[in-house]
Amino acid sequence: MSPNVLAPAPQPAIEAVRLGNPYAPHNARIVGVQRMVEDNHLFTFRFVDPEIARSFSHRPGQFIMLSIPGAGEAPISISSSPTRPHVLELCVRRAGRVTDALYRMRVNDLVGIRGPYGNGFPVEEMVGGDVLMAAGGLGMAPLRSLLWYTLDNRSQFGKLTLMYGGRNPESMLYRNEMSSLVDRPDIHTLLGVDADPSGTWKYHVCRLADLFDFADIDPRTTHAAVCGPPIVYRFILQRLLKLGFSKDRILMSLERHMKCGVGKCGHCSIGYKYTCIHGPIFTYWDAINLPEMI
Ligand SMILES: Cc1cc2nc3c(=O)[nH]c(=O)nc-3n(C[C@H](O)[C@H](O)[C@H](O)COP(=O)(O)OP(=O)(O)OC[C@H]3O[C@@H](n4cnc5c(N)ncnc54)[C@H](O)[C@@H]3O)c2cc1C
Ligand code: FES
Repeated sequence: MSPNVLAPAPQPAIEAVRLGNPYAPHNARIVGVQRMVEDNHLFTFRFVDPEIARSFSHRPGQFIMLSIPGAGEAPISISSSPTRPHVLELCVRRAGRVTDALYRMRVNDLVGIRGPYGNGFPVEEMVGGDVLMAAGGLGMAPLRSLLWYTLDNRSQFGKLTLMYGGRNPESMLYRNEMSSLVDRPDIHTLLGVDADPSGTWKYHVCRLADLFDFADIDPRTTHAAVCGPPIVYRFILQRLLKLGFSKDRILMSLERHMKCGVGKCGHCSIGYKYTCIHGPIFTYWDAINLPEMI
């Protein structure tokens, strides 16, 4: 399969059962660690088994379960694009037992990875249209996979717009990478920070939602992919609805506490949906029809 062709939408539980024990992780070696911002590092992994390394594929927006012996397991979004296979990049915030253990590890150490799980972004539906990607803070971790997927398959999409905002320049993930997109003619990149105390910021100083004032978005032809903390959803959704976006063209990545990741334990259920298999990507239409979703 050519690297730019997306694998068919996986059905996690069924796929995992087909491949053997659905809970069995594959050994993966840490091949790189890069500090992004305070307590947020980009870890690069390569599967030890060459067959797994060759066949592993995912959709932008999917996640894996990362396991560390003695510490446990945690769901983490895949931050790299399926168009750039062979390594897997995870942007991990130090939050508790598993992530603490990962931060104590070094290049060449082994972890367990199972997945990919979840539905991912509906990229087939998005093909041919415009795409707006809006992320606040750590929301860039899952959105980056879609960003590079659309850029690496540029001819398949209409206008691409990226809006990324953070509290200050030091809190921006992938700061150099995002800055390098600003001058690209094939994507309109708008970067904003709430404040610039260090005086090092060359782009907008404003709230993320205010970046809409600099964009030209047609709600009839655009899918909006939004990732970020709850406050981001509140203000971005207001702007999208005001622009006239239909609720099923707004895609959101939503996180819930998870255990199995494959629709078995019920840990992540919201109403009649399991976040691990029906999500983590939901349309705004789904979200408002499920209690406590947002
Ligand atoms: C689909 C998905 C994608 C994710 N992607 C990423 C990602 O890309 N990068 C990233 O850094 N994180 C991501 N997360 C979040 C990550 O899984 C959590 O931060 C996870 O808890 C970290 O595990 P830990 O063992 O290190 O921390 P934990 O020991 O689980 O502690 C983390 C925090 O959660 C609290 N907590 C733990 N369990 C519960 C519970 N049952 N109810 C309420 N609070 C609880 C703890 O008190 C603590 O404050 C994602 C989560 C989901 C569901
Ligand atoms: S995490 Fe077990 S059902 Fe979703």
